[in-house]
Amino acid sequence: MLNPTKVKNDFPIFRRKIDGKEIIYLDNAATTQKPKSVIDAIKDYYENFNSNVHRGIYKLSEEATDMYEKARKNVSDFIGGNDQNGLVFVRNATEALNLLASSIGQSLKRDDEVLLTLMEHHSNIVPWQFLMGKGVKIKYADLKEDGTLNMEDFTSKITQHTKVVSVTHVSNVLGTINDAKELARISHEKEATFILDGAQSVPHMPVDVKDIDCDYVAFSGHKMLGPMGIGGLYGKPDLLSKLPPYMGGGEMINTVTTEGSTWADIPLKFEAGTPNVADAIGLSAAVDYLKNIGMKEVRKHESEMILYAFQEEKYMENLKSFGPRSLHLRGGVYSFNIGDIPSFNIQRELEANSIRISRASMHPHDVASEIDKEGIAIRSGHHCAMPLMARLDVQATARASFYIYNSKEEIDKLFIGLQNATARFGH
Ligand SMILES: Cc1ncc(COP(=O)(O)O)c(C=O)c1O
Repeated sequence: MLNPTKVKNDFPIFRRKIDGKEIIYLDNAATTQKPKSVIDAIKDYYENFNSNVHRGIYKLSEEATDMYEKARKNVSDFIGGNDQNGLVFVRNATEALNLLASSIGQSLKRDDEVLLTLMEHHSNIVPWQFLMGKGVKIKYADLKEDGTLNMEDFTSKITQHTKVVSVTHVSNVLGTINDAKELARISHEKEATFILDGAQSVPHMPVDVKDIDCDYVAFSGHKMLGPMGIGGLYGKPDLLSKLPPYMGGGEMINTVTTEGSTWADIPLKFEAGTPNVADAIGLSAAVDYLKNIGMKEVRKHESEMILYAFQEEKYMENLKSFGPRSLHLRGGVYSFNIGDIPSFNIQRELEANSIRISRASMHPHDVASEIDKEGIAIRSGHHCAMPLMARLDVQATARASFYIYNSKEEIDKLFIGLQNATARFGH
């Protein structure tokens, strides 16, 4: 069984105290902390192996290439990839989704449709919106009141014009776990390409791209104990091979003449320029760390954390939390507000009619900065999901997001902190 206190010992940052208080880090949906093994792997690469990969015919370069390609295989295996050549190293999920929108977008025409959902992160909205200029239509599947995806609405919005369906596996605000396998099946029935944004699932639960049958999945290393600046795009190799390249330059070519160029095979076709070798090796060390714990254990621990938060929240008057309550539909993300935080539109309307917003409400930024005084890091704001905020009719939320080093005691401290904060605000 996962012991968060023991896990915490592997993370050097938790030795630090801020204003004499231990760090309680509950902003894991934004980025996670790094275990010593990941930091050491990066240091070891720079101290002992640093050289450019793929091109050098000398020992150091051969070793670095070997380590880089072994990292690719390890990360690809972690998500059930059949073929390590389907794993393209990118900077993060955002870059993976931009790559897909740009490369797939080249073959999209006026009136072709891309289907997203209202719970997407901006990085799975804005790259597709770039295609609106050429007449591509973007549709958004709605949510149900419980924060799950409205499957009837989703199905009704797929038409014979839908070329791409791109959906988050787990919402970074609601914690909703979408039924990726079913969404892939429906999309494929309509011959649409199915893309999974795995930024909040790959770090937190077993994800098997073969079982889901997604065409592409995007994820970020820094959200799964790895370094910033490295992430993955996994694609079915036959699809990736047919996709035009995203960036041009060294590494991604086969031949270049003054007349034109031909492309390298995948994955290098999508890795123009010198790659981020050290961080790929760091990500591979993060994968080893997670494999050692076991992704089922990670998922189980986060379910326990969220269940505990549901139990504790009952003692907070005036707290409203968002997202599904059934644990099998819920990841370890806990968004909430103290009192009503109406959307700007509703707030303007209330003010115009001289209707006071409940005195007992506290803006999420105030919640986060009050909680910070207790050494607890949570996030507040729109969480890069403004269309979702509009759908929920809120300006913003506060969000605690859990990972393997968080404990029930920390959740106790969060709720005690919230009680103190609301008291300080005179509620
Ligand atoms: C669901 C989801 N998708 C994509 C992203 C983008 O991740 P990154 O900023 O690492 O590219 C995030 C980041 O929070 C996310 O939560």
